Amino acid sequence: MKSILLRGIVGVVGCSVTLFAASNAESIFDNKCAMCHMKTVPTDKSAIIAPPINGVMRHVKMHYPSKHDGVSFIVDYVQYPSQTKALCMKKKIARFGLMPSQKENISSKELEEVASWIYDTYPRAGFKGQGIMKGRFMKTP
Ligand code: HEC
Repeated sequence: MKSILLRGIVGVVGCSVTLFAASNAESIFDNKCAMCHMKTVPTDKSAIIAPPINGVMRHVKMHYPSKHDGVSFIVDYVQYPSQTKALCMKKKIARFGLMPSQKENISSKELEEVASWIYDTYPRAGFKGQGIMKGRFMKTP
């Protein structure tokens, strides 16, 4: 009986730790990324200043089906963005310019957390993006 109770408590605590990690990561995203990368599908596409996160993550996941590799890519790109590393469609860079490095704005711990969270969370179910027609926009190896 006692051990069942204990397990129950451990379970609840374990679960809230996970929830806390997610909401903490989400607030980092809200503070440090969302002013450029919208979390929703924009109604007015002309007003946005960077690709919304659904589209960004769709491309990251097409190139990096493994979470480990995807997270490493994001952690690196956010600090050291470059045209040669970019996975997004060329027209996005032509429109928005290269992402400014966020190295000074985010700690590496926060960046790891936020990268893991966006990999798990986006694109949201049902999101339809652009750029898979016959692999035209896919970077060829
Ligand atoms: C000042 C605006 C701005 C901020 C803040 C910003 N980004 Fe970006 N980001 C951009 C733009 C513009 C692009 C598209 C051009 C490019 O890929 O470099 C981009 C592209 C990206 C990409 C795709 C890279 C590629 O092309 O393959 C990722 C991943 C990304 N951002 C993650 C983040 C994360 C995570 C944060 C928060 C820590 C963040 N960004 C904060 C503007 C921003």
